[in-house]
Amino acid sequence: MPHAKIAGIGCYVPERVVTNHDLTAFIETSDEWIQERTGIKERRYAKKHEETTTTMGARAARIAIERAGITAEDVDFIIFATLSPDYYFPGCGVLLQRELGVTHCEAGTLDIRNQCSGFLYALSVGNQFVRGGVYKNVLVVGAEMHSMGLDFSTRGRNVSVIFGDGAGAVVLQPTEEPGQGILTTHLHSNGTEAEQLAVIGPGSHGGYYGNREEYNFPESEFGDIFVYDGFEATGAHFPNMNGQLVFKTAVVKFPEVIMEALNKTGYQPSDIDMLIPHQANLRISQFVQKTLGLSDEKIFNNIQKYGNTTAASVPIALCEAWETGKIKAGDLVCLAAFGSGFTWGSALIRW
Ligand code: COA
Repeated sequence: MPHAKIAGIGCYVPERVVTNHDLTAFIETSDEWIQERTGIKERRYAKKHEETTTTMGARAARIAIERAGITAEDVDFIIFATLSPDYYFPGCGVLLQRELGVTHCEAGTLDIRNQCSGFLYALSVGNQFVRGGVYKNVLVVGAEMHSMGLDFSTRGRNVSVIFGDGAGAVVLQPTEEPGQGILTTHLHSNGTEAEQLAVIGPGSHGGYYGNREEYNFPESEFGDIFVYDGFEATGAHFPNMNGQLVFKTAVVKFPEVIMEALNKTGYQPSDIDMLIPHQANLRISQFVQKTLGLSDEKIFNNIQKYGNTTAASVPIALCEAWETGKIKAGDLVCLAAFGSGFTWGSALIRW
């Protein structure tokens, strides 16, 4: 059975730089608070009405496709991970297909809704399709346009200061080289904390989970469950996060799922040449680095420049690490992510 290898990788971040200081115009916060708690100095925001999650994904995808030595027409299957899609439905997969001009209908598309772990889930699904011989060129994209959906008032400050926009993409192809490519992937979830990092409304639940009054859900019998009425006051349509619970859980689950990948393949933390953690918070990444005993050269962080770009963060970081020569042929690269759901995952790749 072949392995899947990353044959091409690309990333894109919008031009507009938004510093911590810029945010103080809307939010009661400070550069000092944000840097100390998260490590973030600035993030990028896309041009509203000119860019979308899909168009950013397309920019990253075009680079990945070119580097894989194929054309968009060669793509057999598209997997798109995002929590900030252009439309409620259809998902970004088909929009990306259209954007790239993949006109043949044989190319299927799949949308992944696993938030910060979205790229790991997407990669894992793509890996299975390639290994099983179903597809030869699978395009895996993670992209987010958070800036359209954040609460830019002081109420939302614990969330809004963290997130940024961007996109990353890889093309997966089969390889018969022994020991090359994606060696293993591991996915997990625990829905018991689903609301601890979530956009609660609008949605079909209409308050079913006991949050009707808390979030001021509309009361009428028919047809109004997706209406935003009332959410403005409660902020249910913005991301809400129990930051401390997320932090405490992440610092346990990151090392756990990385060790799972290492144990499965017979490696140890010292064998990792480059760890690419989901860029959730610099303090989380530093904690994971310390737990695994990795030196500074063996972990890649760019959250300082981009904030947390959710499904895009792992492919953007992987792309930048590779572009700057920090990942070389033959390196053992570990990807890991944790986030809303809660969901988490890891992948081990021989580059
Ligand atoms: N600027 C200034 N003050 C802020 C603020 C901001 N952006 N956000 C929150 N605060 C304030 C709070 O209002 C609170 O004030 P109080 O003590 O007067 O009540 C104080 O800072 C502490 O708030 P708290 O939410 O307890 O802060 P924290 O130390 O937990 O840090 C996070 C907040 C979000 C930085 C931190 O919890 C975190 O990083 N969690 C993980 C988040 C993450 O990784 N999310 C992505 C998931 S993949």
